[in-house]
Amino acid sequence: MNSTNDIVILGIESSFDDTSAAIIVNGEIRSNIIAGQKVHENYGGVVPELASRAHQQNIVPVVDQAIKEAGIFLESISSIAYTRGPGLLGSLLVGTSFTKGFSLALNIPMIEINHLQGHVLAHFIKENATDNIQPTFPHLCLLVSGGNSQIILVKSHLEMEVIGQTIDDAAGEAFDKCAKVMGLPYPGGPLIDKLAKEGNPNAISFSKPRIEGLNYSFSGLKTSFLYHLRDELKENPNYIEENKANLCASLQKTIIDILLIKLIKASKEKGINEITLAGGVSANSGLREELKLKAEELDWNLYLPDFKYTTDNAAMIAIAGYYKYLASEFASHKMVPFARMELK
Ligand code: KG4
Repeated sequence: MNSTNDIVILGIESSFDDTSAAIIVNGEIRSNIIAGQKVHENYGGVVPELASRAHQQNIVPVVDQAIKEAGIFLESISSIAYTRGPGLLGSLLVGTSFTKGFSLALNIPMIEINHLQGHVLAHFIKENATDNIQPTFPHLCLLVSGGNSQIILVKSHLEMEVIGQTIDDAAGEAFDKCAKVMGLPYPGGPLIDKLAKEGNPNAISFSKPRIEGLNYSFSGLKTSFLYHLRDELKENPNYIEENKANLCASLQKTIIDILLIKLIKASKEKGINEITLAGGVSANSGLREELKLKAEELDWNLYLPDFKYTTDNAAMIAIAGYYKYLASEFASHKMVPFARMELK
């Protein structure tokens, strides 16, 4: 049970297709409940209208379970932090409306969180009271997900600057779209990761972008992958089936190479050796291994997220809320969600 001086944050995440609620007490995780949505499986992607309906069904039981599992009283909650954006508007509206109602009913302040800031701050979630392994400032975060590929200069818990980002597709999208043309189900990223383990990463070479500065581009790779399949399928209709592992391993290696070239450049330019990884694609085993190798070679302090924080979760929203609570950055009940939101 917690004391009256404890800072207890209830986090709410509903930006895409996971409904999640978490309790963080003084920066330490107490519960993190996530309800996925199987309803999209037959559609090859997330259907926005179905996602918001599922959030509506899930949000109350998920919050209830998070509070019960944390073993706290409702009255001990200091504040409720929620994802304001970016994401699907209908999904965000469910979390926003719930948060407003909860905040008014308990007469506690609400805190708005940028989903991307949550991903970056997941590295500050303490697993227990003695867990002090956290990145220092400034550090660079490689944030790679289905919607974003960014290099972020993290100056403090609440001060972040995007110094590089994709000008077209995100890394996760490259995984998912290439998986789709190979006939793999959505989301293809985890399957490519699995199949890549049995293939040769140097079997096929795909084109890499030549983009100035620290920005990324993945649309050329997608086209190069598509043209490769089109040409090979003309000669051999079973080409994909017979070469799936090599295709996955080579595609994955190319995506990792593209990501790391710019991350290394950013580290050199900024003189920062403190590096973190975040977002859905951070679960990729090849990327994690390659980053570990680079960390040894380049003397980086590398922080890889726990697998449970690689997918969308409310624990990362609650920890961001904790730091905003400490800075007394509260939100008005007039706040509306935003489908698009820059990281500031
Ligand atoms: O952050 P996230 O959960 O949500 C969105 O940004 O929407 O990221 C989901 C993305 C998807 O593109 C998925 O294919 C990718 O993360 N992903 C992976 C792996 N696990 C998830 N990509 C490559 N390898 C993985 N193991």
